[in-house]
Parts: sequence; structure tokens; C-alpha cells
Amino acid sequence: MGKLKIGVFGAHRGMTMIHQLLGNPHACVTAICDKHKPTLDMAGQAAKDAGVKVELYERFDDFFNADMDAVVMANYAHEHAKFGIRLLESGRHIMSEVLTCANMAEAVQLIETVEKTGLVYTYAENYCFFNTTYEMKRRYQAGDIGEFIYGEGEYVHDCSSIWPQITYGERDHWRNRHNATFYCTHSLGPLLYTTGLRPVKVQAGEGRLMDCMRKLGSRCGSFAIEVVTLENGGICKSIHGELKREPGSINYEVYGTKGSMETDRWDGQLHVYREGDRNCVGEHVKYAPEFTIKDAAGAGHGGGDFFTTHYFIEALRGNEEGMKNSIDVYQAVDMCIPGILGFRSILNGGNAVEVPNLRLKEERDKYRNDTFCAFAESAGDQWVDAMAMQPDKSETPDEVYEMVRQKWEKGEPG
Ligand SMILES: NC(=O)c1ccc[n+]([C@@H]2O[C@H](COP(=O)([O-])OP(=O)(O)OC[C@H]3O[C@@H](n4cnc5c(N)ncnc54)[C@H](O)[C@@H]3O)[C@@H](O)[C@H]2O)c1
Repeated sequence: MGKLKIGVFGAHRGMTMIHQLLGNPHACVTAICDKHKPTLDMAGQAAKDAGVKVELYERFDDFFNADMDAVVMANYAHEHAKFGIRLLESGRHIMSEVLTCANMAEAVQLIETVEKTGLVYTYAENYCFFNTTYEMKRRYQAGDIGEFIYGEGEYVHDCSSIWPQITYGERDHWRNRHNATFYCTHSLGPLLYTTGLRPVKVQAGEGRLMDCMRKLGSRCGSFAIEVVTLENGGICKSIHGELKREPGSINYEVYGTKGSMETDRWDGQLHVYREGDRNCVGEHVKYAPEFTIKDAAGAGHGGGDFFTTHYFIEALRGNEEGMKNSIDVYQAVDMCIPGILGFRSILNGGNAVEVPNLRLKEERDKYRNDTFCAFAESAGDQWVDAMAMQPDKSETPDEVYEMVRQKWEKGEPG
């Protein structure tokens, strides 16, 4: 079997995967697409420096016709299902960056396309593959802390200083207009990956849009909380967004019937408490888990970036380890839809909203035409403004986006 031919759609975040693929013994990058020419050229140069020949495309429709077996999707976060479905229909496997889909209708359509085509779909939720979170999964699945009772996932990342570099002064950039609960994947995902449980209910709240973010063009609550009930009755608190804390906080806690585990915010260590035969008496250990594959050391996002691409390629090669460790389309949808339905909860005053099990065909019809979301082009007549519950809904003047664009061009911080 020759090397797998991989296309990369979106060359900003996509650069991470390109670098990894350029050194992969089983796969090669054959095509890259980005409408922003300087970004595309930079990716092309990296391939050239590595002695790899790639075709470069500014338009997705041209890229679509390129010679590739599979595509890494690192395009806009709300357009993965839209483009991914087209690629699957054309016979290409996909690995999708976060998030999975823009609305519930797309979740149904994406799942049904993966089922119909039988192709590989993996979800690049890299926060599940830190040395600590992956170890939490391993130990939870080994029964070390009993059955899941409660968990917390925290992804606090104040992006205000990098806002010009990640939104480019585009009023319509997805980061400026998604609803506050949309980006729930990094906080909730590792809890679902660890426990293997499915969400059944979500109650959510959003923070106010902070002035520093409004001045940079953001138009949604700056942070959000989802309280997610899992299928065994356990509860997760997922919190994510902009809060004033440096460095940002990425943290997970899992409580079971026989003990608990928590990551250490600061030093890549895991704390594990295991109760013995007597209530409230047990052992406590703290350690830095080894990476299961040494090559991950030094990779971005605490090594997590290595594993998502590695397992994708291994899954494409039909390797059992790749299939077992990758996040499939059902779990990908579970990690995303509490953020879509959480917006419904916010609009109805924080009441609980049911989260369906889209593995079951009979649960799909109710959502097949449900395009409710904050992205106007995906929602059609079911659009709701992400600012709907914010006290100050005043418009953001064009000058703000012009100022951010100029900062981006000059490489200045927000
Ligand atoms: N897992 C992580 O840790 C992590 C980190 C950063 C970003 N991401 C995800 O990666 C994705 C990309 O994020 P980003 O930070 O690169 O910012 P982004 O969303 O602004 O970048 C998308 C890139 O794709 C290109 N693009 C989008 N639509 C296109 C189209 N139709 N045709 C051609 N080019 C197109 C843009 O020009 C841009 O370079 C997002 O889904 C984001 O959620 C994940």
C-alpha cells in the first residue's frame, strides 16, 4: 500500500497537522486549501522545505477535485459538517477539528452520512489526549474510582490579546458571533471521553460580554457554563471562555463512588484519591503520567495534537489502536450538541433541555430540520442572535473591525 494522500482544509490551525503529516511514514500531504493567500503560501513553503510536493488551492471547489484519500478539516469551527458531508459523499475520510456542527440538523446529517458511506470520521478533540486526561480515562475505565458521580471541566482562555490574529477584523468571523455555549468541547469533551457516558440533559448560563471583548468586535457572552447530566445520572459542570486569569486554566476533576481524580492546573500532574474499605480513608498519589507514545512529548497542547492526527492515520490504516482511541462521530456529536442546546436553555431562563441520543434512528426525526443556532447562514429562519440575552445589545461600529484588522496586519496585540 502506498502512502495515504491527505488534504488539509484551512492552513492556520491546519499548519499543526501539516507539520506532523510531513514527517509521517504512512501518509503524505498532497493538497492544501486556504482562501488567505499568505497563509496558503506559508504552508506551501513548509512542504517545499520538507521536500514534499503539494498542490495549493484558494478555492474549496478546486481543492475538492484534488487527488486525496482523506481530508483534515481545520476550516471555520461552524462549517465542519457542511464541508465534511460533501467530502464524505465524494469518498474521502475526514478528521474534523472542533467543533462538530453548527446545529442539530447538521448533527443528524453528519451521522447519517458517516453511516451511509462507511468512511472513517475522527474528531480532533486534542484535550482528551493530554498525559493527564488520557490517564484519567485509562484509570476510570479500569474501575479505579468506581462509577462516575460528578465532574468538572474548565477551559478558561482569555483570547483578548490574540483577538486580531484569530479574527482578522472580520465582523462575521465565527469567533465574533457564536453563542456563548458553542465552544463547550474542550471543557466537556474530556469528561465524556474519560467516562464513555452520554449527555442526556443540559442547563446553561452565560456571562456578560466583557467590555474588553466588545471593543475587539466579539458579540456574545464572554464565558458560559453548562450543567450536563449524563446517562447514569452523574453531573458535569463545564465552564469555558474569557475570564481574567493568566495563564489560562485547563482543568478536569472526576468524582466516582470510590475516589476521585483531578488534573493539576499548573504542572501536568494528576492527583488520584482512592478510598479503601473505610469511609473517608484512602490513598492519595500525585504523579506526571508518561505519554503512551513517546513521540508526543513536545507536541502542541500538552502533546494532545500528536495523538489526534496519529490515531486518525492509524484508523485509516485499519489499525485497531487507531479505531479504539479516536473519537468517533457519535461521541463527537455528544461533545458538541450540549453547546447548541445550551443556548436554548439560556433563552428559556436556564431550564433543562433534553440532549438526544442520535445513535438511535428514532431520535433523529425530531432534529432533522432543527437549524436553530446563532450562525445566520446555517440557521435560515431559525436564527437567534448570540446577543439575545445580553443586557447591552448595541451594534458594534465598523470602525472596531477596521481597528482590529489593522492590528492584525501590523501584528499588534488586542
Ligand atoms: N483543538 C484546538 O486546540 C484548536 C486550536 C485552534 C483552533 N482550533 C480549531 O481549528 C479550526 C480553525 O481555527 P483557526 O484558529 O485556524 O482559525 P480560523 O477558523 O479563522 O481559520 C480557518 C482557516 O481556514 C480558512 N478557510 C475557512 N473557510 C474557508 C473556505 N471556505 N475556503 C478556503 N479557506 C477557508 C481561513 O482562511 C483560515 O485560514 C477551528 O475549527 C477551530 O475551532 C482548534
